[in-house]
Amino acid sequence: MPATMTALYGGAGPDWAPRQVHAPRPGPGQVVVRARAVALNNADASMLAAADPTAGGTGEEYQAGFEFAGEVTAVGAGAGMPALGSRVMGTTPGSFAQYVLADHRHVLPVPDELGNEEACALPTGLLTEHGALAVAGFQAGQSVLITGATSSIGLIGVRIARALDAGRIVATTRDAARSDLLENAGADTVVITGEQDMTQAVLTATRGQGVDVALDHVGGRTFADCLPATRSDGAVVNIGRLDRAASTIDLDALSYRHLRVHGVSFGFSRAAELGAVIAAAGERLLPAVADGRAQPLIDSTWSFDTAARAAARLRSHRAHGKIVLSVP
Ligand SMILES: NC(=O)c1ccc[n+]([C@@H]2O[C@H](COP(=O)([O-])OP(=O)(O)OC[C@H]3O[C@@H](n4cnc5c(N)ncnc54)[C@H](OP(=O)(O)O)[C@@H]3O)[C@@H](O)[C@H]2O)c1
Repeated sequence: MPATMTALYGGAGPDWAPRQVHAPRPGPGQVVVRARAVALNNADASMLAAADPTAGGTGEEYQAGFEFAGEVTAVGAGAGMPALGSRVMGTTPGSFAQYVLADHRHVLPVPDELGNEEACALPTGLLTEHGALAVAGFQAGQSVLITGATSSIGLIGVRIARALDAGRIVATTRDAARSDLLENAGADTVVITGEQDMTQAVLTATRGQGVDVALDHVGGRTFADCLPATRSDGAVVNIGRLDRAASTIDLDALSYRHLRVHGVSFGFSRAAELGAVIAAAGERLLPAVADGRAQPLIDSTWSFDTAARAAARLRSHRAHGKIVLSVP
C-alpha cells in the first residue's frame, strides 16, 4: 500500500477538491479497502453545502463520501472477516478515497455477478430499506407504500420489497414522466403526488384497507398522509425528509388505527448496531443481489476529475438511480 493517496475533500468551496493525504492503516476491528468505485448520497450534497465557505458554510475540510466497493488490502487485529484480497462493498464516512478505512462489520461480500460500480451503489440502500422494513416487522405478502420512491434509496427499496415477496407495492413520485422507472423497479401502483390525493389513491389500491407498511422518504405533509393510508395495526417508518422535517399529523389517524410509527437514521447508529443491520440485510438480500433482483439502477458514472458535475447532478434531484465516481 502506498504511503499517500488521493481523496476528495469538502469544505474548500462549493464542490469537492482533491487532496493528497496519508493512506490509512487499520486499527483493531478495522479493514482498509482499495476502493474502485464510490457512490453519492443525498447527505453528500447537504454536507458540501454546510461546509462551503463561499456560501456562509463552516469552511471545515472533511474527507467526503459514505459508500464504496473494492478489495480488502489490510486487516486489523480482531477483524477475521473479510479476508485479505476479497471484494467488499460498504459504508463509512470518508469513502471518496483510493484507500478507505472501515469497521469490518460495515462491509459485505460482493457477489461475483456484480461489478464495482453496481456494488458501491448498494450498501446505503440495502441497509436502510431492509433495516426500515425490519423495524416495521414486514412479512412476505404484505403491502408496502414507498414515498419519494424515485430517490436512489427509494428505488432500491422498491426492488428489495419485490425481492422479499411483498404483496402490492405502491410507489410515489411528483413527476408522471417517472412512472416507468417505478414500474420497472417493481411497483404495482404509481401515485403521482400533486396530481392525485396520495391517501385516497393508496386506499383505492388496497381495497380501502391501507398498506401494511409505509416507508416514507419525504416527511412534511407526505408523512402525515401516510398515517390514514396505513391499515389498522400497520407501521409507518420515516426514513428521509426530502420535503421537510416538520409535519403536522392527525392523531385520530394514528390512534384509531393503532399504528406503530418509527424513525430510522442509520448513520446515527452505534457501530455494533449498524453492523447488525448490515449483517441482516446481507443475509436476506445477497442472493437477490447476485441474481439481479436487488441490483441498483445506475444513473451515471463520473471520474474524480469530473466530480463537480456528479455533485451538480445530485443537487438537480433529476438522477435516475445512483450516481457513481470511479476511483483513480
Ligand atoms: N434514514 C437513513 O438512515 C437514511 C439513509 C440514507 C438516506 N436517507 C434519506 O433518504 C432520502 C432519500 O435519499 P437519496 O440519497 O436516495 O435521495 P435522492 O436520490 O437525492 O432523491 C431524489 C428524489 O427525491 C425526490 N424529491 C426531491 N425533493 C422532494 C420533495 N421536496 N418532495 C418530494 N420528493 C422530493 C425526487 O423525486 P420526484 O421528483 O420523482 O418526486 C427525486 O427523484 C433523503 O432524505 C436522505 O437524507 C436516510
